[in-house]
Amino acid sequence: MNRDAQPVPMFDLGRAVARIESELDRRWRRLLAATAFVGGEEVREFERAFAEDHEVEHCVGVANGTDALVLALRAHCVGPGDEVVVPGFTFVATAAAVLLAGATPVFADVRPDSLNLDLEDVARRLTSRTVGVIGVHLYGNPFDLDAAGELCAGRGLWLIEDAAQAHGARWRGRPVGGFGSLATWSFYPSKNLGCFGDGGAVTTNDPELARRVRLLANHGATARYHHELVGGNSRLDALQAAVLNCRLPLLAGDNERRRQVAARYREHLAGAREVTALPEPRDATPVWHQFTVLCERRDALQAFLAGRGIGSATHYPEPLHRQPAFAHLGAPPALEVAEDVARRVLCLPMFAELTDEEVAAVGRALAEFEA
Ligand SMILES: Cc1ncc(COP(=O)(O)O)c(C=O)c1O
Repeated sequence: MNRDAQPVPMFDLGRAVARIESELDRRWRRLLAATAFVGGEEVREFERAFAEDHEVEHCVGVANGTDALVLALRAHCVGPGDEVVVPGFTFVATAAAVLLAGATPVFADVRPDSLNLDLEDVARRLTSRTVGVIGVHLYGNPFDLDAAGELCAGRGLWLIEDAAQAHGARWRGRPVGGFGSLATWSFYPSKNLGCFGDGGAVTTNDPELARRVRLLANHGATARYHHELVGGNSRLDALQAAVLNCRLPLLAGDNERRRQVAARYREHLAGAREVTALPEPRDATPVWHQFTVLCERRDALQAFLAGRGIGSATHYPEPLHRQPAFAHLGAPPALEVAEDVARRVLCLPMFAELTDEEVAAVGRALAEFEA
């Protein structure tokens, strides 16, 4: 490592832990005293507060963001023969969940400006078997919820928002999470709102869908030992809900700090030729889960930053339609943008506790790379 350089981690959960330690200690002691580890007041408090913050009627805490997707799909009763359109460029869970729920994912391309679903390509991929679309608010930047909603409503399809990366993001002023029939969330530790283990949620304005998700996540039980549906066990852990109750009140401020960091990165990149940031969205208020740049010499840039002790990550280096896990679906479609960006994306350090000095150090390293 260059000895003058200041190391900057990609992510440092320890700083988030330190900010809530005493409040968490209080909540955990209360839980230990009550021995209420499954369900209980911490989970209910979180579900209420998360729904309120996202201006949505119902929130069901579940075990993780992957289960949230599977449960949302099962709540819609998807099954063999049904097709669900998903982006070819996202985390694997978005597409894997469709198969886990018994249906078939159909991959659509993404837009070069946001790397979110390309709705024209989605429209081309609809068939008589299509039952719905899952859009992802990738990197915390909402996809076009109005256009996606119109496309789906016009064809009698449902729309699920995969909001795993977008806690607190807004589309035309309104929080994401209540636009589709259902929205799914992950609280994996590195998310904008993360717990200290696995956690997830499903939000919806539809009481019947909320009821079905809650049943499916708890053995289909409407009463003790009475089972209306075949469900599984995917409940939000009370200890994780306690972490989330400590962190949720900090989310808006944390997202604001991420916006400041993103704005600084953008200033540093203003004159850059080789490294370009994705454009600032017009109709959305993103929450910068990731700050992503595109660079032809991506691997060289990543190695250069690492040489200065600066972390970075490639979300995602291989598009989903080309992954071995989905090879059995047949010949992969040609998704030009997804394939192109998978080789060029790099995410820079981004978390709410990043200091101005660290952001400046990343900026200096980017300038050196360009020189
Ligand atoms: C877009 C997206 N969907 C789904 C998931 C799955 O969430 P989890 O890791 O909590 O299962 C993630 C998590 O990384 C994600 O980023």
